[in-house]
Amino acid sequence: MSKINEIQKRRTFAIISHPDAGKTTLTEKFLLFGGAIQVAGAVKSNKIKKSATSDFMEIERQRGISVATSVMTFEYSGVRINLLDTPGHKDFAEDTYRTLTAVDSVILVIDCVKGVEEQTEKLMQVCRLRNTPVIIFINKLDREGRVPIELLDEIEEKLNIKVRPLSWPLGIGLTFKGVYNLYENSLSLFQANKQRIEDDVLFFKDIYDKELVSMFGETALKLQEDVELVEGVYDHFTKEKYQSGELAPVFFGSALNNFGVKELLETFIRIAPIPRERETTAGLISPNYEKFSGFVFKIHANLDPKHRDRIAFLRVCSGKFERNKFYTHVRLDREIKFANPASFMAQDKNVIEEAFPGDVIGLYDTGNFKIGDTLTEKESFMFKGIPSFSPEIFRELVSTDPMKSKQLEKGIRQLTDEGLAQLFTQHNGLRKIIGTVGELQFDVIQYRLTNEYGAACNFRPLNFIKACWVYYENPEDIDELKRIRAQNIVNDKHGNLVFLAESEYTLNAAMSKNPKAQFRFTVEHNTQTVEFED
Ligand code: G4P
Repeated sequence: MSKINEIQKRRTFAIISHPDAGKTTLTEKFLLFGGAIQVAGAVKSNKIKKSATSDFMEIERQRGISVATSVMTFEYSGVRINLLDTPGHKDFAEDTYRTLTAVDSVILVIDCVKGVEEQTEKLMQVCRLRNTPVIIFINKLDREGRVPIELLDEIEEKLNIKVRPLSWPLGIGLTFKGVYNLYENSLSLFQANKQRIEDDVLFFKDIYDKELVSMFGETALKLQEDVELVEGVYDHFTKEKYQSGELAPVFFGSALNNFGVKELLETFIRIAPIPRERETTAGLISPNYEKFSGFVFKIHANLDPKHRDRIAFLRVCSGKFERNKFYTHVRLDREIKFANPASFMAQDKNVIEEAFPGDVIGLYDTGNFKIGDTLTEKESFMFKGIPSFSPEIFRELVSTDPMKSKQLEKGIRQLTDEGLAQLFTQHNGLRKIIGTVGELQFDVIQYRLTNEYGAACNFRPLNFIKACWVYYENPEDIDELKRIRAQNIVNDKHGNLVFLAESEYTLNAAMSKNPKAQFRFTVEHNTQTVEFED
């Protein structure tokens, strides 16, 4: 098959949701349709159970499962689908955010009982930063959920995106009869059955069809009323608006009962974007560009001290990746080849010979890679747009064994290169502050520093709540900040100036007193411009 056809064939996406909305269940149903698994229940949830929050070894074990399911590739109707898994646990949210930089679109699952939840909002903010096309699946229609119109209002308001329902439910919970496809004028009849594959479908002239009313009475009349409202309120669906991230088509169903899932999948392969061009320091690189390029968006360490290798996950962006061919590691300016590049599926790991734009491959690594690294075929550009987000919890790293300070230094640099946490420094690196989105990472860091690097440490709590990257043109622009807030000023690993705020109040005060400086809550790797002398 030609390279162009290989690209046309691929759809690389992620399913995202607040924990418990049904991401794992929907993933599994997709895999069933794709023939990648044979029975429901075959894919282990990588969901980190609430009971395990204090047991990080258990969490790492479960993260081990998540490596195996990092990328699930299957074929459906001649389309090759790369489904990237995202950890559900809030403490690993940064991992999820970064994975979103490697996809071309997302399916967002919302629980119809709970509506838009906290994690949904954060995930969507990341999608909105990059105008990632979104399809929304409102799940659990078999339960007594909220009124659909109300849910759609909430989605538009909280997620800052326009929606357009492509189907509409007939009843909800106990009165749930099925989902009416507004474009095909067909009704998929609901049955509670976890193993079913095909929906029973009835076709009608339109929503006013007498047959529909005689079959469903009141519920059909309510459907007419709702659809009239939908047609009056929401913009018409176009693939262009969806692909530019302006408009999100909405589907209703029940993942557990495999209801509405096939319709979702079929629409997805019809409208979801093929691998897209990507921004680099040398301008946009198209997937059709003949030379290979790609970037690392995730690194997974092997916790077994006997196997210190790591797996770097690379998204192929252009050209063709080949096993055992030398590629340029741009940051290190070094040629590297890979003997065992791997693809992962459920518990299977396969060595691959080649990969095309849209594919994600696992590269065994002994410490060469950092999040955001670019590989090319003898070119020096780097991919942009792999963001770091402001952490929420900050602690000072304190060595408890002065003889091991070198090991501690090396260990914390490597662990933060993996993206486990962010490292900020003060006083020429002597004071180290670790920022994370969850408590769990501190346990993991402490364990790994002790076991892998032989460096014992402790953490001292700090009362910062937010980090923001400060950009300025002239050094005088931040004179005031340095004078009053020197203790809050740190550097990130790339030397960028970062302001750590104890409260919204201190942040707002700093912003208003330093009007020429810009305060940003995300920073993109490979685009650092600011150097700050301590
Ligand atoms: P997540 O990955 O987004 O965290 O969610 P997951 O798929 O694990 O689903 C969370 C819970 O919601 C599961 O129940 C799952 O069975 C249930 N669920 C998913 N889709 C539907 C649906 O359409 N209708 C209903 N009623 N429930 C649904 P659980 O009890 O937490 O787990 P399990 O014991 O069923 O695995």
